[in-house]
Amino acid sequence: MRTEPAGEPPWWRRAVVYQVYPTSFADGDGDGWGDLAGIRSRLPYLQWLGVDAVWLSPIYPSPHADFGYDVADYCDVDARFGDLASFDALLEEAHARGIRVILDWVPNHTSDRHPWFLESRAARASTRRDWYIWRDGTRDGLPPNNWRSAFGGPAWTFDDRTAEWYLHLFLPEQPDLNWARAEVREAMHATLRFWLDRGVDGFRADVVHLIGKDPALPDQDASLGEVDRVAIHDDPRTHELLRGLRRVLDEYPGERMMVGEVNLRDTLRIATYYGAGDELHLAFNFLALEAGFDPAAWRTLVETVGEALVPRAWPTWVLSNHDNPRHRTRFGGSERRARAAAVLLLTLRGTPFLFQGEELGLEDAFVPPAARLDPGGRDGARAPLPWTPEPPHGWPAPPFLPFPPEPGGRSVERQRGRPGSTLLLYRGLLALRRRSAALRDGDLQLVDAPPEVLRFVRVAAGERLEVAVNFSPEPAALAGAEGSTIMLASDDLAPGQPFAGAVPPECAVVLSPSVPAQKRP
Ligand code: GLC
Repeated sequence: MRTEPAGEPPWWRRAVVYQVYPTSFADGDGDGWGDLAGIRSRLPYLQWLGVDAVWLSPIYPSPHADFGYDVADYCDVDARFGDLASFDALLEEAHARGIRVILDWVPNHTSDRHPWFLESRAARASTRRDWYIWRDGTRDGLPPNNWRSAFGGPAWTFDDRTAEWYLHLFLPEQPDLNWARAEVREAMHATLRFWLDRGVDGFRADVVHLIGKDPALPDQDASLGEVDRVAIHDDPRTHELLRGLRRVLDEYPGERMMVGEVNLRDTLRIATYYGAGDELHLAFNFLALEAGFDPAAWRTLVETVGEALVPRAWPTWVLSNHDNPRHRTRFGGSERRARAAAVLLLTLRGTPFLFQGEELGLEDAFVPPAARLDPGGRDGARAPLPWTPEPPHGWPAPPFLPFPPEPGGRSVERQRGRPGSTLLLYRGLLALRRRSAALRDGDLQLVDAPPEVLRFVRVAAGERLEVAVNFSPEPAALAGAEGSTIMLASDDLAPGQPFAGAVPPECAVVLSPSVPAQKRP
């Protein structure tokens, strides 16, 4: 395991993490579903792109009621994706290429086919009964409380066999574990150690803010909307559980880390999940996913993160993932906007998370109703990646979902050879970030700008870069920046040239105040 030289920030503060959704990334065995052999075969691509780490969405044995977020065995690989040997081979090759690997880990719930739940469900007297959360209903035969499932409907299912209700904040096939039981905590810690022993660099912990629960299971404020009711769970008990997880990670050398999915829409609350540096290493902040192509929303978010988080914790940034429409789609299908947002994502202070295919400027696929697979309606963002121009686009067999729009033109192969492509923009951004201490480690200061422009400087010892994103359809003048050197622009402006003073419409620029180097004759 590699360790950073003393005094350097830990790797996960400097990394750009790339989310691989294994089902739709690359297919190694020709069955139309992505797999670990497919991912391994594309590691040279990820290395060429310049990412530091990959996060694999769940690869564990699963009935796939929620595409692997219903885990039937935490210590194995689903046959659809390969086996432990193919995982070890992938990990070894990723490390040899300088790419870290983090696994999705699903602590809040298991599959209803997990042996623990089968045992729990079998009888009220089962020794594993209270590994899950069972309760009587109300006298009127209603569920124990008013909690709602994230997929709609009550968060409770009545089980005829033992005439009690069990809790599931997601599908009925995803019963919630009872983290109040010491045996559950130990069993789940053991699943972390299983993968840490194999050499993984960390975990993305699924909806980890939900694991602590008030045993009284009080009703929620019924006046809240559906989304807020699901998102409201923010129980203080979770923090002690997170400290327990952190202690497990700290048993291992090599800066193993955990990034938590803290699905709360409040930066101040999210900040508490870092604890005093003894809980999560990183926490997602999904407000960025909701900011739209809107300068006011981004300014507020950057300010709030600066105030709430930066004094004691390291931020994260994300534009797209497997649970939401891709950002290009959210921005009305505009590639220009998506490219400007990419510059923002990769120049903010914090660890950026990319979702596979955003570097290709993909939009969501249109999935006809009859072909839809996901209970949450998220198939469009999970469509397969096009690797080559001709169908089936580098998949040995037609994949399980339709491709996103224009798969040939947006394929990896096509864009690799097309100057100015979105793929080459991402690669250039990753390279710039890698060689710039200001972008990786530096402070961020917002600079006054017209309302349609977000402007900030990044400063580290001896280096200062300025970033400006113009969200408007008109050019925007940038006071005092004339003559600085264009390091990179999302569109229209060539790097290495002096900046003429205006940012083109819906465009982002990275500027260096230094005088451009004289070209040799
Ligand atoms: C997280 C995952 C999502 C899943 C849910 C339940 O939000 O990202 O895909 O459906 O948790 O595990």
